[in-house]
Amino acid sequence: MPAVDDIAPTLTLASRDGTVVADGSAEDPASAAAPSFSPGFSGLRCRACAAPAPLGPNFVCTRCFGPVEATYDLPDVARRLTREVIAQRPPTIWRYAELLPVEAPPADGYRFGLTSLLPAPRLASRLGLSRLWIKDDSRNPTLSFKDRVVAVAAARARDFGFHTLACASTGNLAGAVAGAAARLGLRAVVFVPADLERAKIAQAQALGATVVPVEGPYDGVNRLCLELTDELEGWAVVNVNLRPFYVEGSKTLAFEIAEQLGWRAPDVVVAPLASGSLYTKLAKGFGELVATGLLSSAAPRYVGGQAAGCGPIADAYRRGSDLIRPVAEPRTIVRSLAIGTPADGGYAVDLARSSGGLIAGVEDDATVAAIRLLAETEGVFTETAGGVTLAALAAAVESGQVREDDETVLVITGNGLKTLDVLDTELAEPISPSIDAFLERWDAERARLV
Ligand SMILES: Cc1ncc(COP(=O)(O)O)c(C=O)c1O
Ligand SMILES: [Zn+2]
Repeated sequence: MPAVDDIAPTLTLASRDGTVVADGSAEDPASAAAPSFSPGFSGLRCRACAAPAPLGPNFVCTRCFGPVEATYDLPDVARRLTREVIAQRPPTIWRYAELLPVEAPPADGYRFGLTSLLPAPRLASRLGLSRLWIKDDSRNPTLSFKDRVVAVAAARARDFGFHTLACASTGNLAGAVAGAAARLGLRAVVFVPADLERAKIAQAQALGATVVPVEGPYDGVNRLCLELTDELEGWAVVNVNLRPFYVEGSKTLAFEIAEQLGWRAPDVVVAPLASGSLYTKLAKGFGELVATGLLSSAAPRYVGGQAAGCGPIADAYRRGSDLIRPVAEPRTIVRSLAIGTPADGGYAVDLARSSGGLIAGVEDDATVAAIRLLAETEGVFTETAGGVTLAALAAAVESGQVREDDETVLVITGNGLKTLDVLDTELAEPISPSIDAFLERWDAERARLV
């Protein structure tokens, strides 16, 4: 077993000119549950008509069928939550617990969040940018940003007395749910499209989940889970009945970016979209930092990416329309983003327009090229969603919407080991263990590299 400090994420603070000024790291995560903590969360309400909803696994407004969301007493949080208070807390998402929908931060000692914000000078110069950062969320415990959203949902599943943690997943959520359930001693049941990448299935299985393969694309999986949620007592389906809690976890990416930049917001944030939840919650996160005085201002432009072969939000953005046309049959290698009827599509298009950003549709070959570029320039190996994200940034630079001196944060949400099938990983014939054999091979290889 590695020591806790060996596996702790590093908190990197950056100065205004982009140099790294401090490296903080781990202390005991159990102290996250400081006795003085009092929540900022103030209940659930409908996002459409603002009617209050009772605290519990409620996700649809009983008055207008709108989505239910978490609310906070932000003026009260502003009085209590300061940069100094946050700085003293352990390096996990729970350092911002007043802005998360929990009564108290769980003290289970598990570290997620506070992933590295890496300067990316080599990639920046390839793109024609001068201030580029990579928020590397591919190194969370189950290797994607989904650990953040599941952490919040799982905390509530425990509060509400559920015995089973479940989800409809395009892959990464399955692993995150399986990992959280294993830690909490809950049962995990994950529903996935049957043709999902093997690595994602293997990870969820190894973590003890029952993996249910469902025929057809993700949207059918999601519909099934919606129907099952009504049928099954004691099941927390994290992205269905716990969705109001689950989605809030994504905001922690914005909180961390601001803190790691030395409490300022970047000019541009780049992220992938499936349902559009992460993308829109980044903006909610920066907005809450301003509302609580942790940032004096924040007006990033939000650049997003979807696969062209399943890009209902990118398509609506391109058409200049608010109408999201569902995609019935995704045709893309980017399985993690292949949602044909995105729940937050309309909100995402609004955000792209109102912030001065854009949402690009990315062809699969550009996605693969971007995976390689990120790996070769910065040593970060991402899955297909990260390839889409980088390709979207390249498109935004190309179109002039992101300029050379814009401070830009590229949010890399998943790990390349999960989508090896999209890369050409053919290995050459083995050589015999002799210097001559190697030199002969190296001559040929060197010619190829030049
Ligand atoms: C790696 C990765 N990035 C981004 C997303 C987008 O998530 P959202 O549904 O919040 O838009 C997903 C969704 O599964 C994902 O797996
Ligand atoms: Zn309502």
